[in-house]
Amino acid sequence: MSDTKPVSNWATDFDVFDQQYVNDPYSIWAVLRDECPMAHTDRWGGSWLPTRYEDVTAIARDIEKFPSRFGISVVPPANPLDANSQPGFLPYGVPPISSDPPLHTWTRRLLLPWMSPQRTLTYESMTRDLCNRLIDGFIADGNADAAADYAQQIPVRVIAHILGVPESMSDSFTGWVRDVLEFAYDEERRRRGMTGVIQFFIGAIAERKLNPGDDLISELLQAEVDGEAVNESVILGMCGLLLIAGVDTTWSSIGSSLWHIASHPKDRDRLINEPDLMPTAIEELLRAYSPVTMARRLGEDVEYNGCPMKKDERILMNFPGANRDPEVFENPDEVILDRQLNRHVAFGSGIHRCAGSNLARMELRVAIETWLERIPDFEVSDQTKVTWAGGQVRGPRTVPVRFPSVS
Ligand code: HEM
Repeated sequence: MSDTKPVSNWATDFDVFDQQYVNDPYSIWAVLRDECPMAHTDRWGGSWLPTRYEDVTAIARDIEKFPSRFGISVVPPANPLDANSQPGFLPYGVPPISSDPPLHTWTRRLLLPWMSPQRTLTYESMTRDLCNRLIDGFIADGNADAAADYAQQIPVRVIAHILGVPESMSDSFTGWVRDVLEFAYDEERRRRGMTGVIQFFIGAIAERKLNPGDDLISELLQAEVDGEAVNESVILGMCGLLLIAGVDTTWSSIGSSLWHIASHPKDRDRLINEPDLMPTAIEELLRAYSPVTMARRLGEDVEYNGCPMKKDERILMNFPGANRDPEVFENPDEVILDRQLNRHVAFGSGIHRCAGSNLARMELRVAIETWLERIPDFEVSDQTKVTWAGGQVRGPRTVPVRFPSVS
């Protein structure tokens, strides 16, 4: 899975796809934070890994030195997520995430109304129905895979609803998104995944031009910016981004949270007996199990805090590592459901801060609430069977749980 060989020195040769990092990045960050807070590797074309909150947030906010238009994925070469990597394929990349102002500013502005707190509320009842339907499918069995049978199934259907595309495409969407993010180290797979996404949306855009609806794709086709229609390649990139950004991320968060609750009966009981805890609990689970590591790729040589960063190298936006920094979070490796001071950066920091955070929070809350209402008494049946995926997005892929069956 890794670039070449196992990692022997995390300060000078790290690899975020190494199985040790995927399984337990926390202990690696803890050592690096003290000994080498900006780690470096020559793997994957050369990258830097900040592990302190201060560095991660400073870099995320400095869009002049650390732009997004040269690349935002953690691996080269020619990653289809990176603008300019495949001329003619997605000439504008997948804005707003892969762009800088001014493209970033207006593409983000077009998306935000669809993800506002008010709009998000309108997706809540379909999300709750969906969670109930999924649970109906396995509750009589007395066991399930909380990651594959539940967490993985939710965000892809919610985003299909928002985009106005058939729910029956969910399995294809999930496969493509996994190819792009989880298997990004395999060039063939990530190209295949991105091609699937692009081809699907080329068809969906053509269809919406003939039959406009009240969905996001139709609205983007009708939108005007400075009196002009939005270029279709931009719309294509934006739709692709929503699918890629909205699926694996949220499913990983729901999966990690359920794994945590299933493995910590005291926290499970608190959530059931003190439902008012839910808002702080959601933030704490997002902090502790932050799934997303983004990247910036340098367009020129840059020096940061004495580190000589070279053109084309990447800086990994280690938001998950920042969220475990003891300088900012007391007992960072403990999950404290009523943690009060929690300025986590699971959703990033600066102008690219997640546009879907309201939606993600709603999905996470509804998924946990519905599970606990229907299956309050559950536990991981075999911790050795739990598997994690990592790299750009970290989350569990298998979480076998058992519970008293209800027919
Ligand atoms: C728990 C779930 C999620 C997490 C942890 C998460 C995390 C992030 C992070 C860290 C960024 C910043 C990227 C950067 O700095 O380069 C980001 C950006 C973004 N996310 Fe999310 N995300 C989640 C769910 C979603 C959902 C459900 C959607 C929408 C369907 C979404 C849409 C976006 C978009 C459009 C951006 C780009 C914003 C911009 O560049 O201005 N995300 N997300």
